[in-house]
Amino acid sequence: MAQIFDRSSNALARASLVLTGLIVIALGVTLNQLQRSPWVTRQGQRPDQPVPFSHKHHVQGLGLQCQYCHVTVEKSSYAGIPPTKTCMNCHAQIWTNAQLLQPVRQSWATGQSITWTKVHDLPDFAYFSHEIHVNKGLGCASCHGRVDQMPLMYAQNTLQMEWCLNCHRNPAKNLRPTSEIYNMAWSKPTEDRPVWCSVGAEKSGVPTAQSVNCVTKDPAGEGPQMASLQMPVGGANGLVSDVAAAKLPVLPAYQKFTSQDDLGKFLVKHYKIRTPRELSSCEVCHR
Ligand code: HEC
Ligand code: HEC
Ligand code: HEC
Ligand code: HEC
Ligand code: HEC
Repeated sequence: MAQIFDRSSNALARASLVLTGLIVIALGVTLNQLQRSPWVTRQGQRPDQPVPFSHKHHVQGLGLQCQYCHVTVEKSSYAGIPPTKTCMNCHAQIWTNAQLLQPVRQSWATGQSITWTKVHDLPDFAYFSHEIHVNKGLGCASCHGRVDQMPLMYAQNTLQMEWCLNCHRNPAKNLRPTSEIYNMAWSKPTEDRPVWCSVGAEKSGVPTAQSVNCVTKDPAGEGPQMASLQMPVGGANGLVSDVAAAKLPVLPAYQKFTSQDDLGKFLVKHYKIRTPRELSSCEVCHR
């Protein structure tokens, strides 16, 4: 019987094996890319919403605070999406005939909530809480970007594990005073724009961050002014200078920061942020 496979088909088989191998690798790479692609993570996409709600108009234009609508962001894991009632506080009077707002009026009339499409949606097996992040000095913009400039909401970041870990491995570079968490335009301190912070006594029952007080205007600016006000009145009179002396120690000692490095280190210490190692352990997010 003649050979069914001649020598050349052997070479062919080998070639096709190599080819299959290459295809499998290529497929793997593609799938891996795909898994990180905006198509899967929905990063940057603006999903269709029942109402084209504009953060730009309502935040930047009208000056509304985030907490006006996302009322639970500081005290719960969920920031919350506002009920129709919140919109009607204004839209019962403004733009009452606008076609764009028809779904809002309908929701108000029927009592059925507006079905917003989620822009950010972590899988259930990953634990996340707004409360701790916001109370430890992470601004909305650090994770959500310049929401005040978004005509339609989209996800600025992937929300993938690598993104979370990237910050958990070095939180200092993203920390800001808790008084600035809603400040969309906040940027790290520099020589020209320093930040001053003081540490007071810790209060019980409130986040540790509340014992730290930071300001963006030189707190010493008021000192000399007060002294010059008192001078003409008191003069050599011991009484007034006694009063001034008694007041001085009460003023908290402010430390000046001109770089994110120094401010970050200070806040890590006084906000009692865990070490990068502790923050990267699996149980933190997978419980
Ligand atoms: C007037 C009410 C209002 C104000 C003020 C407001 N928001 Fe919203 N926000 C909404 C509504 C309604 C939605 C849901 C529709 C959408 O996604 O655009 C939303 C959605 C979001 C989402 C996406 C939610 C998701 O589906 O993942 C983020 C993030 C967000 N807001 C952040 C902010 C921040 C940060 C501020 C302050 C700078 C702010 N919002 C101020 C009403 C408001
Ligand atoms: C504090 C008052 C106030 C609240 C609360 C408010 N709006 Fe508005 N909204 C306005 C005003 C004023 C305008 C007109 C803004 C403009 O044209 O610059 C407007 C405009 C709009 C528009 C027209 C498109 C645009 O952005 O210009 C839509 C849609 C809208 N609002 C939806 C909502 C929804 C949904 C909510 C509730 C989540 C809401 N608004 C809450 C005051 C408010
Ligand atoms: C450390 C990053 C981080 C910070 C800081 C942060 N967010 Fe979020 N936000 C997220 C993640 C992650 C989700 C998705 C949560 C989920 O799917 O369970 C989310 C979801 C939301 C949602 C959708 C509704 C919800 O509660 O899930 C809103 C609204 C929102 N954020 C508003 C805000 C506002 C306002 C601030 C500032 C006060 C803020 N976020 C600060 C990461 C952050
Ligand atoms: C920009 C920085 C940053 C990003 C991004 C970030 N985190 Fe955090 N996270 C922190 C800091 C800071 C803390 C507070 C650490 C502390 O108090 O020790 C924290 C704490 C936590 C905690 C601990 C909560 C608790 O009660 O113990 C969890 C869980 C968590 N983050 C989950 C996530 C997840 C999930 C993501 C991504 C979707 C994420 N974080 C993204 C900075 C960040
Ligand atoms: C800071 C929070 C955080 C920590 C710490 C963390 N993860 Fe995750 N992990 C996530 C988030 C968020 C997702 C969901 C990512 C997504 O939706 O793409 C995830 C997804 C996963 C997945 C699903 C596959 C994938 O990549 O989507 C596995 C498996 C996983 N994590 C294992 C671990 C292990 C093992 C550790 C410890 C070495 C760990 N994680 C530590 C936040 C975290």
